[in-house]
Amino acid sequence: MTAADEYVLDTPVVRAFVADVRERIAASASPAGACDAIRPRFAELLADREWLPARYQEGDPGSGMGGGIGQWLLFRARDRSLSLFALVVPPGSQTPIHDHLAWGLVGLYRGTQDEEIYARGTDGALERVEARPLAPGDFYALLPPRDDIHRVRTTSAESSVSIHLLTNDTGCVWRHAFDEGTGASTPIRSGYVNVACPPE
Ligand SMILES: [Fe+2]
Repeated sequence: MTAADEYVLDTPVVRAFVADVRERIAASASPAGACDAIRPRFAELLADREWLPARYQEGDPGSGMGGGIGQWLLFRARDRSLSLFALVVPPGSQTPIHDHLAWGLVGLYRGTQDEEIYARGTDGALERVEARPLAPGDFYALLPPRDDIHRVRTTSAESSVSIHLLTNDTGCVWRHAFDEGTGASTPIRSGYVNVACPPE
């Protein structure tokens, strides 16, 4: 664990956003309540075309998730209980089916995506329960165990960029990728393009 909060993108916009989010989480009685309280502030961030530098909107050829997908850390809390990152999915690429193991908000900043949401059936198989197109400004809450397993695919000619505000250090925790056919899970640690994860 590092000694301080990490503002990888250290700007007044990011600092003000994180401060507001922390206040709203502290004043909320539940994750669902916190997500609702953060929604207006998150919508503002998605609508602001100026705050996210171009370098954080580029893919990563050496991606830990495959497909040239870039996961750029922007902020994480000292105790790893909150992170803000940009996920860049090149045109024609898709993530594995994966989970997050933390609640939070995810929204589209650039490009378009199709999102497919999966649930575990009683037999352990994965069932696709919802599919929806996403355009810039659209966002959704992840509230595990509900809606925690999904896959996103870029449908635009340009890379899609989504902004994630999640209550763990998503790139560095061990989570899961899933096989669509069998439902079998594989441990994954997606990592970040720009910041190392602590040693195991
Ligand atoms: Fe995701």
